[in-house]
Amino acid sequence: MKQDMILILDLGGLQDVQIAREIRQLGVYTEIHPHDITAETLAALPNVRGIILSGGPNRVVDGEVIQPSEAVLNSGLPILAVDCPPRGQGVTIPAWPEDDARRRELLETFVFQGCRATANWSMDNFIADQVELMRRQIGDGKVLLALSGGVDSSVVAALLLKAIGDRLTCVHVNHGLLRKGEPEQVVQVFREQMGANLIYVDASDRFLDKLGGVSDPEQKRKIIGAEFIRVFEEEARKLEGITFLAQGTIYPDIIESGTKTRKAIKAHHNVGGLPEDLNFELVEPLKMLFKDEVRACGVALGLPESMVYRQPFPGPGLGVRCPGAITRDRLAAVRESDAILREEFAAAGLDRKVWQYFTVVPDFQSVGMRDGKRCMGWPVILRAVNTVDAMTATCEPLTWDLLNRIGSRILAEVPGVNRVMYDFTPKPPATIEYE
Ligand code: XMP
Repeated sequence: MKQDMILILDLGGLQDVQIAREIRQLGVYTEIHPHDITAETLAALPNVRGIILSGGPNRVVDGEVIQPSEAVLNSGLPILAVDCPPRGQGVTIPAWPEDDARRRELLETFVFQGCRATANWSMDNFIADQVELMRRQIGDGKVLLALSGGVDSSVVAALLLKAIGDRLTCVHVNHGLLRKGEPEQVVQVFREQMGANLIYVDASDRFLDKLGGVSDPEQKRKIIGAEFIRVFEEEARKLEGITFLAQGTIYPDIIESGTKTRKAIKAHHNVGGLPEDLNFELVEPLKMLFKDEVRACGVALGLPESMVYRQPFPGPGLGVRCPGAITRDRLAAVRESDAILREEFAAAGLDRKVWQYFTVVPDFQSVGMRDGKRCMGWPVILRAVNTVDAMTATCEPLTWDLLNRIGSRILAEVPGVNRVMYDFTPKPPATIEYE
């Protein structure tokens, strides 16, 4: 294995993610594991040079103070205890500095002098290590991947292609709620450029038929999620000899799902929750990466920037941007107006600057004029927001000139639309999406 590692154990600390990121910025790879890591897991982790115990306010669980396991205290590795003086010998217990510069200095001293770690964390080394680890795990087995075309599943596909080539089968399900050009790009990049085994399933009609007349947002999400699993499962059952399932789990997914010493931040609501009775073993090569690192990994693997730097896109896709019961004509208006917005944002250099931007076509019409006659049409609502964690968001101040250009194109090019509006409401009180 190519890179050194500092292991961070979660003893109820609030700073473990920050410590992990700071050490990675020093060029040394880190992983965060639960406080009760077993001797076997510890022994199986490659190149561990030292351990940081991250304690804090959540250290008491059910009246019991969380302690690191004997395996950790007896490992013989240098240990730094943050906010948690443990019992045991040879543990460095510093006063944990509040200010950034002194904290960084302390970590630097521990990592390079205490642990004698080498700053050899790089994307190329990470990729080389993951390829080797996946080859060891998979042996001569076969792997299945639900490839949505999002950043995470795309990077997993590229990594697995490098590791096992044609023993990977990707399934891309088009649920009819993807953005304009998306399924075509997935086929183009993975099947044509990278030579992947890709099964493309156009299930648009199935999804749209099931969604017909359904206006409740949660019901819509449920139908999309359940149908997705059904389609994927049908494809999986046609294939033979597959025992592994790859998933694009990334580190924030694990944090948000909660551990014993950490409360769950939010339940996961992504489409792509997968069939449980297929008995696959999971392959999750990105589960220790933060989002920016996943993107860097994608770039290093040669994926196109438009795939790697794409904005977040909800699992239920354009379905939540067509509020109320989805109809094909209104969905087409969402898709076409979204494509125009994306083109104009890219031309204005805003595509990498604004966090999320899209259009919504609500389920009502107003009167307008076309060819000298009064006729009814939909409004298109533009949304462009910036956020760090999607819990709160502010709107991008768009120039009048740009708004005008986008608006004129939508009115000229999208059938059935007679008004364009810019929604400048922050979150809260609004949410980013409309349902
Ligand atoms: P809201 O609308 O709650 O959205 O402010 C916050 C972020 O979450 C995305 N979002 C979803 N993502 N499945 C997803 O995978 C969903 O059902 C879903 N609903 C909202 C939304 O696009 C925004 O980035």
